[in-house]
Amino acid sequence: MNLEDIVSLDKKYYMNTFGERTQVCFERGEGLYLYTEDNKRYADFLGGIAVNALGHCNPKVKAALHDQIDKLIHTSNLYYIKNQTLLAQKLIELSCADKVFFSNSGAEANEAALKLARLYFYKKGQPHKNEVITLKNSFHGRTLATIAATGQEKYQNPYKPLMPTFKYVGLNDFEGLNNAISENTCAIMLEPIQGEHGVFELEPEYASKVRTLCNEKGILLIFDEIQTGMGRTGKMFCYEHFNIHPDIFTLAKALGAGVPIGAVCAKDFCCAFGQGDHGSTFGGNPLACRAALAVLECFESDGVVQNSAKMGSYFIETLKALCSDRIKQLRGKGLMIGIELKDGAKDVVKKMFERGYLCGVVGDTIRLLPPLIITKTDIDLFVKTFAEVLE
Ligand SMILES: Cc1ncc(COP(=O)(O)O)c(C=O)c1O
Repeated sequence: MNLEDIVSLDKKYYMNTFGERTQVCFERGEGLYLYTEDNKRYADFLGGIAVNALGHCNPKVKAALHDQIDKLIHTSNLYYIKNQTLLAQKLIELSCADKVFFSNSGAEANEAALKLARLYFYKKGQPHKNEVITLKNSFHGRTLATIAATGQEKYQNPYKPLMPTFKYVGLNDFEGLNNAISENTCAIMLEPIQGEHGVFELEPEYASKVRTLCNEKGILLIFDEIQTGMGRTGKMFCYEHFNIHPDIFTLAKALGAGVPIGAVCAKDFCCAFGQGDHGSTFGGNPLACRAALAVLECFESDGVVQNSAKMGSYFIETLKALCSDRIKQLRGKGLMIGIELKDGAKDVVKKMFERGYLCGVVGDTIRLLPPLIITKTDIDLFVKTFAEVLE
């Protein structure tokens, strides 16, 4: 089947929520690279939108998955699941949280976080505390609750009326946030770096002031680390950059190296879920948890987070050295990079594609989320091509 056939069948049978997709279909992947059926090679600097932290088809993850598929794929959460228990233990040991619950996606993990925050106050006899403050231009997912949390009208308009319990304030606007708090506020939910909107970071001082404010007012602080977690920003979790702990944080994307899994992680005091309060058929199944266990083993054995920090700095330096005259602003941490151009970002991304590089674009910002295993040589080659394309 050639690409034209796939495109025409896709148009006929698949609900088109993605618009005009890039005209390519990949057959296999290895490390940084994706290959089409006719063996054309692309360097994946978008990393499946922050999913492929270990690159494509990491041998250790593949071996673990083969082994697990031979043994057991799914049972049910009616029974104990060894991989689920081991993964929960591992995530808790690595993070500031005390307990975890697994889902199948990022949006579902955020749903669980929002439910947990409301349930915490409900069980304390304060059911009126059901409002959540999020940021303008945030992105938290596509379910009805998470698009209500997402502070962008373009996602919300067709689905109004929305859940009414969200308020939106500007990024890093502490006064605006403080003013938005009411006696009904149960949580503040923040992306440590806004990814989908074009890589905009929380200021460290703002983050720590928000933590103090939440403590003073008895409000829960939720971090959406679905994109920033799992080493992406050069630390295992982005909250580590701010020297604060959220009460609840969510993960997904890179956690399962492409096998769908999400997680809501919380401090003991707000682990309000009890019997019947939440659930999932697939969440935390043996296969998904085995994938995530293998990912974490690779992180440890291969120094992935350290590489993310080192290569992130090297990437920024190299971009500054070779392309600074065309760049309006460079943003990001670790290997979550936004390159805002003066103009023409879409054309640049198109030309990079023609030269065998995959990048993302939002407005005039080029988004890079490469595998955390990339090398200096990979970066040098990318930046050399990028500089030529900018010319
Ligand atoms: C910060 C953030 N939250 C939530 C989501 C939603 O995750 P999913 O698409 O797995 O539901 C995304 C996805 O891009 C994200 O970047």
